[in-house]
Amino acid sequence: ADAVEFHGDHQAGVVTPAQDRLHFVAFDVITDDRDQLVRLLQAWTDAARRMTRGQDAGPVGAVAGNEYAPPDDTGEAMGLPPAGLTLTIGFGPTLFRTADGTDRFGIADRQPAELVELPAFAGDELRPEISGGDLCIQACADDPQVAVHAVRNLARIGQGLVGVRWSQLGFGRTSSTSSDQTTPRNLFGFKDGTDNLKAQQPATLDRFVWVSGTGSWMDGGSYLVSRRIRMLVEVWDRQNLRDQQQTIGRTKGSGAPLGRTAEFDPVDFTAQVDGEPAVPPTSHVFLAHPTNSGTAILRRGYSFVDGSDGLGRLDAGLFFLCYQSDPATGFVQVQRNLRTDKLNEYVQHTSSAVFACPPGVTDEDDWWGSGLF
Ligand code: HEM
Repeated sequence: ADAVEFHGDHQAGVVTPAQDRLHFVAFDVITDDRDQLVRLLQAWTDAARRMTRGQDAGPVGAVAGNEYAPPDDTGEAMGLPPAGLTLTIGFGPTLFRTADGTDRFGIADRQPAELVELPAFAGDELRPEISGGDLCIQACADDPQVAVHAVRNLARIGQGLVGVRWSQLGFGRTSSTSSDQTTPRNLFGFKDGTDNLKAQQPATLDRFVWVSGTGSWMDGGSYLVSRRIRMLVEVWDRQNLRDQQQTIGRTKGSGAPLGRTAEFDPVDFTAQVDGEPAVPPTSHVFLAHPTNSGTAILRRGYSFVDGSDGLGRLDAGLFFLCYQSDPATGFVQVQRNLRTDKLNEYVQHTSSAVFACPPGVTDEDDWWGSGLF
């Protein structure tokens, strides 16, 4: 795939047609020095600008420099195309104020009211060591090596200033963010992303995804929620097809809403089959649909299989990512509405994080977070 433009009003990697692969990383900032952090964000921006163009992370490159110094690129993406790489940065609540309330970088008064830790949800089984983070980078590409290369080089550039807190690989997109894309399938075998928000709906994106009119450094940005959701595939695979379809609210083959015939037919909550609602009120689609949740989010998640769990089961699931103009009226509202979701029997949320993703880098002189610092 070609290079995706790095500069713009919004960061790439949100409404950019979802690429096939993901490497997501959350960092803890080790340094307490504001100038060091600013210089790192500037160095990261330069490297990101270069790598999204298919170039080496540094100006000299993996093999052209001094033989007696470590190269400014690690080399594993040499000869690979840009592969549609996007790098999207986000700032976690703890960057603004540590857990004990310390304002390390003099930005506590600039923490947006929307950027607060998510509330606990029924059924959460969160592991702190793979949750949260001061900074995150979402790397998406059509080649996994290109995404991994990008994250690895950003971590290398940040050595001594930031440490990797946790990271997650994703191998198959579970959403479409453009109506030009076909809908992929998730690990339960269902088409996922049919009724997602799409790049072709600018007015809807302005309302639900992009921050606007706040007069703050976040205008043009968006809030990102990440949730690692284990999918109990062995349990799911024992359910009959009818039960699976009633859990989701769509047919497994075409992806049509139950009671309708084609994938993109609008969901009809009044449709009846044998005197029962065609789309059960406990189904995932019923509870997540805007008419019942009262809101909309842009989903951009990926499937993962992180080996097995030592008990003979795959450690598999959905690394759920969603973008919204306010987490409280986005993810939090939908997730609360899902508390009676039949799907809950088959999933476990094991990691959670929230980040403020600033607006786009506008030109060669601009950098990630320039409006904040
Ligand atoms: C729709 C699967 C978790 C929000 C869907 C669809 C599937 C699906 C198959 C129907 C196709 C589509 O319209 O995209 C899953 C699975 C999950 C999961 C397997 C967990 C492993 C979540 C979570 C949220 C969410 C945690 C948000 C809190 C939505 C929304 C829709 C949707 C908003 C669109 C509903 C509509 O407008 O009709 N999901 N989902 N999903 N899901 Fe999920």
